[in-house]
Amino acid sequence: MKYIASIDQGTTSTRCIIFDKKGNIVSVGQKEHEQIYPKPGWVEHNSEEIWKNTLEVIALARINKNIKVEDIAACGITNQRETAVVWNKRTGKAYYNAIVWQDTRVGETVNALTKSHGSQFFQDRTGLPLATYFSGLKIKWILDNVAGVREDAEKGEALFGNMDTFLMWNLTGGINGGLHITDVTNASRTQLMNLETVHWDAELAKIMNIPLQMLPKIEPSSKVYGHITSDAMKGVPLAGILGDQQAALVGQTCYQPGEAKNTYGTGCFLLMNTGTEIVPSKAGLLTTVAYQFENQPVHYALEGSVAIAGALVQWLRDNMGMIEKSTDVEALAKTVEDNGGAYFVPAFSGLYAPYWKSSARGIIAGLTRYVNKGHIARAVLEATAYQTRDVLEAMEKDSGIEVTSLRVDGGMVVNELLMQFQSDMLKVPVIRPKMIETTALGAAYAAGLAVGFWANLDDLLQNWGKDKTWKPKMKATERKKLYTGWKKAIKRSFDWEK
Ligand code: G3P
Repeated sequence: MKYIASIDQGTTSTRCIIFDKKGNIVSVGQKEHEQIYPKPGWVEHNSEEIWKNTLEVIALARINKNIKVEDIAACGITNQRETAVVWNKRTGKAYYNAIVWQDTRVGETVNALTKSHGSQFFQDRTGLPLATYFSGLKIKWILDNVAGVREDAEKGEALFGNMDTFLMWNLTGGINGGLHITDVTNASRTQLMNLETVHWDAELAKIMNIPLQMLPKIEPSSKVYGHITSDAMKGVPLAGILGDQQAALVGQTCYQPGEAKNTYGTGCFLLMNTGTEIVPSKAGLLTTVAYQFENQPVHYALEGSVAIAGALVQWLRDNMGMIEKSTDVEALAKTVEDNGGAYFVPAFSGLYAPYWKSSARGIIAGLTRYVNKGHIARAVLEATAYQTRDVLEAMEKDSGIEVTSLRVDGGMVVNELLMQFQSDMLKVPVIRPKMIETTALGAAYAAGLAVGFWANLDDLLQNWGKDKTWKPKMKATERKKLYTGWKKAIKRSFDWEK
């Protein structure tokens, strides 16, 4: 067989990418889904729409290049993490829209639990500080606010899943016996999994008042779990599941402790492999599962999560109408020499790592009459680079490892201005690999390893190659001045909602 398929269910779109043995893209099907904003701070997706799109993009990827099902050795799933959906196992219908990771509606519950138990209590067990970001409190919100769900959950009829679980259940038969499973990486983002035992933590579930029977079975990230029953790819083994940021780590072949990557998507996520060691964070990072291949120990990672990166460029396009396409931001930013004194702190979902301030909100600071559209476009791009520096510095503190270069991937890395500025701000080389679709590739690798399409990690390491490296060239005084301005701006965004 010639190919591995990968379903990448992301925050803004769903894609099916088909890879060959060298890790090259053979074909792509992609469809965007609606972003639903019922109130300030609320973000939802229609899970039914995403399921339909998944079937469509599989069909598209196959039709585009006339790929036969018999040529696909296995399929992997990677997904936006933390986004929570609860559905009925007899009807297959969701009780409520999927609540997206960026949603801040559980802010008050976070405050109440911080008072009663302290954030550290949760961080010690799960590696995650208490925040609106993770799935557990989103499940609790659905159970507490949507009629009938709690009763059904107690009877074992309402199922919870992140998008990986929801798609896996549907692809393997749905109401006719679909598999209700997840992998260790996704489970590690619910705030309900004990990081050491890699099992659901009954005490945490009790504190959040979540019936254990609605949670999926936790599996390794690479294993033949079952087979697809849907016509679009009938009979193909489903053999890999990874949360999207962990998938990018696998796709970037960061298998050694100390190796790190940064993915520039809707948000921006810097992960460092810490091997089989759980490294607790003191500097505001997450401790999370990196991956677990079949019959292998669990590998962990430190993660710096930034909620808004590419999403800020989309906001400039969709909400402000300042650009037509996302890629136009680079040309607009190039109309000026610098940020003109303006800083944009995109705390739209509060601030994640390393600050964890649920009550922060977005601000534009340093405005004078001099500032024009070009300066704002620059401030938008620079915000991603400053946020990355914030998390990289925390990463170095927590791991004790100096990061001497950074592997990057994701949609925004085509932006040359951003990549140069990133290298300048970090004062280390930034390396873009030939393949920047590392998220989908990582899930393909997990699935391909499980069925023997790739024999081992050495096979995967050979597929990785450099495309371009940016080296720092900014003067030290300029770097310092800019970053000091950012630090001043970010403080002003704190506690806006308090
Ligand atoms: O934790 C959220 C993350 O998984 C979303 O990733 O690529 O959809 O922005 P992305």
